[in-house]
Amino acid sequence: MDIELLNHAVHAARVVRERAYAPYSGFLVGAALVDEDGGLHVGCNMENASYGLTQCAERAALTAATAAGNRRITTCVIVTDSEHPVAPCGACRQVLAESNPQMRIISVTLNDDRKEWTLDHLLPSMFGPRDLLNDK
Ligand code: THU
Repeated sequence: MDIELLNHAVHAARVVRERAYAPYSGFLVGAALVDEDGGLHVGCNMENASYGLTQCAERAALTAATAAGNRRITTCVIVTDSEHPVAPCGACRQVLAESNPQMRIISVTLNDDRKEWTLDHLLPSMFGPRDLLNDK
């Protein structure tokens, strides 16, 4: 991917991270997804007083991409204020894989430490749409 587009995505994830609503954990997450046409879609985590209803940044961003009309994602950038770059939680891996199991996942800290994976590396032997196509 074009380095300018990647920088743009990292910046967008940093900006949206500041808008996260995470009063219970204090752990703010910003996500920016790049679609196959180079479009950008952002999301942040949103917690709830009923803790289990918390929505992660990555899933919020994928919903935004879907609403914008392009859910074919090539790259997911995550920004957190953590000592090391964090990988997406298991639920987000499964949800992102619905879009593209080969997606690049790039995790960035506020100090600009970076780590990168492909989604199929983080979610091997996944259950996916094809598993529902078996003859009954
Ligand atoms: N969180 C995300 O937004 N994405 C992840 O992949 C991991 C966790 C959020 C959920 C919760 O609001 C906070 O981080 C702490 O778990």
